[in-house]
Amino acid sequence: MIEFKNVTKTFKNTAVLKNINLTINDGEFLILIGPSGCGKTTSLKMINKLITPSSGNILINGEDIMKKNTIELRRNIGYVIQQTGLFPHMTIGENIELVPFLNKWTFEERRKKSKELLDLVGLEPDKYIDRFPDELSGGQQQRVGVARALAVNPDIILMDEPFSALDPITRNTLQEEVFKLQQDLKKTIVFVTHDMDEAIKLGDRICIMKDGDIVQFDTPEQILRNPQKGFVEGFIGANRLWNQPEFIKAEDIMIKSPITSSPNRTVLQAIGIMQSSKVDSLLIVDNDNKLQGIVTSKDIRENMINPSLKIGSIMSKELIYVYNDESICLVLKKMNNHGVGYIPVVDKFGVLKGLVTKSSLITLFEEKLF
Ligand SMILES: Nc1ncnc2c1ncn2[C@@H]1O[C@H](COP(=O)(O)OP(=O)(O)O)[C@@H](O)[C@H]1O
Ligand SMILES: [Mg+2]
Repeated sequence: MIEFKNVTKTFKNTAVLKNINLTINDGEFLILIGPSGCGKTTSLKMINKLITPSSGNILINGEDIMKKNTIELRRNIGYVIQQTGLFPHMTIGENIELVPFLNKWTFEERRKKSKELLDLVGLEPDKYIDRFPDELSGGQQQRVGVARALAVNPDIILMDEPFSALDPITRNTLQEEVFKLQQDLKKTIVFVTHDMDEAIKLGDRICIMKDGDIVQFDTPEQILRNPQKGFVEGFIGANRLWNQPEFIKAEDIMIKSPITSSPNRTVLQAIGIMQSSKVDSLLIVDNDNKLQGIVTSKDIRENMINPSLKIGSIMSKELIYVYNDESICLVLKKMNNHGVGYIPVVDKFGVLKGLVTKSSLITLFEEKLF
């Protein structure tokens, strides 16, 4: 666990970090994001003591890092920066093995480790180990940067805009791979970016900074759903949620008061309700508003000869429905798979919450997406 406690930093009387309080959990992928100059790099560099706080404390596993031996501290922290920081006159292998070398590992131990790491970051060891950095593409160099950060098997990895100089395709690939690496290796990663797409894709939580303050700190989903008014809203873009369909839930898109009826109404009454509310089906609910079934105009037509029949006896009980917190992707999939034009939304107790229809979806897409 990494904790910032009332951390401030001033450079020449200018406060660049203002009383930062932040807890990063073990194994968490934490994103620091914000406009240029907001204090991201400064915060990151404080974790490995490249910068010391003007006041306040940083604790790792409960221990104040100022009281720790700097070399030992850094041995447990990998660091990846945008400009790779690879030494140009050293081979890829030597670059990766630098810290193990300083830690007096034998040549065989070092080679074994660097080959293993090259493999891990998707570079063929035998092909690349003896090359020099400028013989590799930007993306490959950044892979080497990641391999080097992993060389001493640290618990913590700091990454400062590691992919921002890469072309979009390479950046995407590396994002995927770092994500997978973290899933496998369960490192604590503190990752600085100014790219919200990257933040959403990678972060377990996102800490949004502005002018040395934390303005919002939450999961990607919560930030997209409830962006702080003003700055965050502007920063992430108003319709951002709609670019992340997996975060849009049935309850966000449903009609909130669908037409319902008690099962005790008659066929005749049902016709009346359908006509006056211009719908071709009725959701049947009990007294607690729990969904019981559905009656369509076809069911009604078939039972017209018996107008006093209770609709509870003719309703279809084989219901396709979705839960309120299921994603729009699943909603569309269910509608598609079952060939239905609408789908009721219930909560976990089976209480009817709303209805998603094809036409409500179309209206919504037109408003939000085009
Ligand atoms: N060594 C320094 N001396 C003076 N000002 C600095 C120093 N390092 C950073 N700053 C200032 O602190 C602020 C935060 O910088 P930084 O943490 O690098 O921002 P970010 O990484 O979010 O772009 C900026 O205004 C920057 O100019
Ligand atoms: Mg920076």
